[in-house]
Amino acid sequence: MTIRISLLNIFIVLLLSTPSIQFTEETIKFAVSEDAPINTVIEKLTPLPGFSYRLSRGNSKIRFDDQTLEFTSSAPLDRESENAIDMLVITSPPSIIHVLVDILDVNDNSPKFPIDVQKIEIPETAPIGFRTQILGATDPDNGANGTIGEYSLVGTTVDTETPFRVVQFEDFVFLEVTGKLDREQREIYEMRMTAKDQGTPPLSSSSLLNIRILDINDNPPDFGTRTLRLHWNGLPYAHLFQLNATDPDSGENSRLTYRILPGGGPNANGFEIIRTAEQGDILVTQNSTSCIPRCELVIEARDSGTPSLATTLNVEVVMEYGNEHEPNINIRFYPSDYPFIVVQPEDVNGKTLAILSLTDPDGPLGENATIRIENGNEKSIFSLISRQSINILTLRNQESAEKENTN
Ligand SMILES: *[C@@H]1O[C@H](CO)[C@@H](O)[C@H](O)[C@H]1NC(C)=O
Ligand SMILES: *[C@@H]1O[C@H](CO)[C@@H](O)[C@H](O)[C@H]1NC(C)=O
Ligand SMILES: *[C@@H]1O[C@H](CO)[C@@H](O)[C@H](O)[C@H]1NC(C)=O
Ligand SMILES: *[C@@H]1O[C@H](CO)[C@@H](O)[C@H](O)[C@H]1NC(C)=O
Repeated sequence: MTIRISLLNIFIVLLLSTPSIQFTEETIKFAVSEDAPINTVIEKLTPLPGFSYRLSRGNSKIRFDDQTLEFTSSAPLDRESENAIDMLVITSPPSIIHVLVDILDVNDNSPKFPIDVQKIEIPETAPIGFRTQILGATDPDNGANGTIGEYSLVGTTVDTETPFRVVQFEDFVFLEVTGKLDREQREIYEMRMTAKDQGTPPLSSSSLLNIRILDINDNPPDFGTRTLRLHWNGLPYAHLFQLNATDPDSGENSRLTYRILPGGGPNANGFEIIRTAEQGDILVTQNSTSCIPRCELVIEARDSGTPSLATTLNVEVVMEYGNEHEPNINIRFYPSDYPFIVVQPEDVNGKTLAILSLTDPDGPLGENATIRIENGNEKSIFSLISRQSINILTLRNQESAEKENTN
């Protein structure tokens, strides 16, 4: 029992006799560039006499040598994934050293676009200065190394300068219209957009912008002419004209319907527009149409845009008798007992022998249709009199007819 008490006394005396060794806790900071090669000596501790050092909490990327007291890089560093490393060194006699290592940036990341191709739609009426938001690039580097200084835009086809530019405003990126757009001139622009950071030297990367100009109903239909003169052979249901207006807009903005405007010119009622599978819309005459001396009508072409646009065409229809068919001669004999002409001895000169009428599938025969005896009348036995489209064959020389008969 007495022995145990005396041992405790000795221990207390020992503690009191070493007052100069004080426990301390300090923090040291240093930095290393993220591109430091492996085995670069980053920092070295200054040893205190009589102290030994030991790593208590380490890191896989920085090694501590407890003999040389050097901190050395042991693996590639990357500020963008770990921008600081802290470790703990303890000493004997006991004290604590917190080690804080800042990883310094180098410009090792190019700007990056979230997608390779951006599709953008802009109406063709978008004015100069019109902006639409697009996706910009990001860059994880620090400060200027990670700041996009400028975006440039280059057409992927050689042709011309493009009516766009890219502008940055605060954290947003916009495509801005800088020139006149016209879908009917050009519908698609494909451009390469390049983002460049402000590092030294800068890094850049690019992506594609695919810009489609949207149609607006900004073109009326076009007949190619304001007036048209059509010739008609007079037949009913004649196909006069294939309605051929065009509209350079697209979709509904170019889908056309036609109509004959009411209250057109003279004789405008004798026409209609029919739709055929092969030829589309066709202007035709009705069965009762007559155009003497001519017909005039106004045809409207209207697109289906909202609002729609329309154009008119003034049409003049004039009669013109085509000559695709031979006229037919119909003969009625007098007397009608025989299917040929009979001349009796008692017949007198001037007697009507037959009435001849003309028809022509091409249409009404005009004043210029003529009929004449071509041969067989060398002795002038017959005479053909035409008066206002009535043709009468008469006996002219009874004596010659009798002589002919007796021969
Ligand atoms: C950017 O990177 C360079 C090396 O590429 C470096 O010297 C500079 O300190 C970095 N700037 C910033 C703000 O980290
Ligand atoms: C339609 O046809 C008429 C007559 O042939 C012609 O004058 C006009 O230019 C044509 N219109 C178009 C748009 O082709
Ligand atoms: C022409 O039209 C009238 C009435 O519109 C009709 O009675 C007649 O049968 C038609 N003629 C032909 C050949 O279709
Ligand atoms: C008949 O002929 C004359 C002279 O050649 C011409 O001026 C006139 O237009 C013609 N009439 C018709 C209906 O074709």
